[in-house]
Amino acid sequence: MATAIYPGSFDPITNGHVSILRSGLVAFDKITVAVLNNEKKKPLFTVEERMQMIRETVVDLDLDADRVEVDCFEGLLVNYAKAKNVRVILRGLRAVADFEYELQMANMNRHLNEEVETVFIMANDAYFYVASGLCKEVTKLGGDVSKLVPRPVAPKLKAKLGL
Ligand code: PNS
Repeated sequence: MATAIYPGSFDPITNGHVSILRSGLVAFDKITVAVLNNEKKKPLFTVEERMQMIRETVVDLDLDADRVEVDCFEGLLVNYAKAKNVRVILRGLRAVADFEYELQMANMNRHLNEEVETVFIMANDAYFYVASGLCKEVTKLGGDVSKLVPRPVAPKLKAKLGL
């Protein structure tokens, strides 16, 4: 069975992430969406809240829940992959700006464990500019991102920001 880990902060999950997940499900039999548990990044949502939003999104969009696992991890991603016995890391690529960061991470992960491969999927061009950070900033400033994040996320984002 072709399995991949799709890691990220998912603070919160956006439609860009969903587009990668959808494409990933074409390429892989099973995907583990792995939320990074790192308080140092000062996430807006707790790990549990982020995982819950991903689960609700999978249900809301009628994605094949049997093929999507939602989990969290801390520490090195390659160690998590090894513990799960998974050898593929899935990452999304948007604009050129992502490339350097992704190249660095993929090479570092390869250096740490050469048995783990990173595979990239291009984000749907409709979501090329969508990033969790921008969605948070725009919401905070009163802008509407309801078309850029999954349905279960939009009200939670507003509520979390006290709007
Ligand atoms: O959504 P993000 O914030 O771009 O995801 C980044 C993530 C979680 C994939 C990356 O920060 C990560 O893998 N962190 C775990 C620590 C680690 O393994 N670091 C070494 C690889 S660069």
